[in-house]
Amino acid sequence: MRTPNYSTVRFKNLFPKAYIYILTFITLCLVLLSSTSFSSLTTTLSSSPKNTTQPPWLLITSSASSDFQRRLLVRWTWVSLFHRSDIFDHIFAVSSTDPVLLPLIKKENDTFGDILLLDNIEDTHWTANHIKPFEFFKRVTNKAWKGRTYKFVSKVDQDSFIDPVRIWNRYLKGRMHDTGIEEDRLMLSMSHEAFCECPAPQGSFYTLSWNLAKLITRLYDGMEDRKDIGQEDCMVGRFPTQAGELYEFISMDEEESFDVIGEKGVAIAKDWSNDRAERGPLEKMAKVVFLHQMKEEWKWLAVKEFFNEDGWVRNGSLGETVS
Ligand SMILES: *[C@@H]1O[C@H](CO)[C@@H](O)[C@H](O)[C@H]1NC(C)=O
Ligand SMILES: *[C@@H]1O[C@H](CO)[C@@H](O)[C@H](O)[C@H]1NC(C)=O
Ligand SMILES: *[C@@H]1O[C@H](CO)[C@@H](O)[C@H](O)[C@H]1NC(C)=O
Repeated sequence: MRTPNYSTVRFKNLFPKAYIYILTFITLCLVLLSSTSFSSLTTTLSSSPKNTTQPPWLLITSSASSDFQRRLLVRWTWVSLFHRSDIFDHIFAVSSTDPVLLPLIKKENDTFGDILLLDNIEDTHWTANHIKPFEFFKRVTNKAWKGRTYKFVSKVDQDSFIDPVRIWNRYLKGRMHDTGIEEDRLMLSMSHEAFCECPAPQGSFYTLSWNLAKLITRLYDGMEDRKDIGQEDCMVGRFPTQAGELYEFISMDEEESFDVIGEKGVAIAKDWSNDRAERGPLEKMAKVVFLHQMKEEWKWLAVKEFFNEDGWVRNGSLGETVS
């Protein structure tokens, strides 16, 4: 009986100090734990240039010239949510020849510094879906964006919401270790092959290795008459295919991607290709890296609620952590 009493007394005397030690210990454990659970992200960052000024990946949102509001939504949602990872730069490609809009777009860029302006191309549906992406790939691969070069470049539609960290970890990070990255010809997207009759991406989001983007824009430049050019997404595949140039098409997991449809307030996941089925409410989706067809603002805002900086949050709790 005496021993337990004795230790109880000692413990009581020590309590104020022990309390501080225990708190310190718990804090340390928490710090260690969180750094462990983010270790994969840290690994990503140490193998990519976290502490240099040059991220390896350039994401380009193709944006309609007058859609100032959508650009704000993009900046304030997925771009700012994931930007801390330092794996990507994000810019908007805007085309316009409109003398009223041009000064406004330049003003916008004075504030945000993230607009690549193609002021030699009108902003029409036709240009956006046929030539604009090739024009902005051409500009950036010629070092027109702050003189930088990257390993990968992506085109993103302004109604696509993406999680670049998870896409990086799953599909791109590994390729950075390959010595042959410069020769690498990667095309990463949802497959559009059935429609385009060659391995080709879905236009709302695709990633090319830098060299492949250069090759494709060279082939685009060599076209005799651009009026005959096909739909952009197919052409991304057709240019190299028709020139007999090899590339590697990697198809993203279809489970990770869907269109967002539904009536106001009821966002529903649907397979991206129109002839495929509805999948159900967003909260039923397990893992998501890429959502599209969110022209309506309410969809964008509904989807935003499903993401935090670790990615997709499933049914109010954290989804799978970044791996
Ligand atoms: C970047 O971080 C790595 C790993 O933390 C370190 O070894 C390296 O010296 C750092 N480089 C610069 C330029 O700060
Ligand atoms: C937009 O701002 C960036 C960063 O300051 C700059 O590099 C770029 O040339 C600007 N673009 C236009 C169209 O002014
Ligand atoms: C969300 O989780 C709760 C509690 O785990 C569950 O009862 C509910 O059915 C889930 N909702 C959906 C849509 O999966």
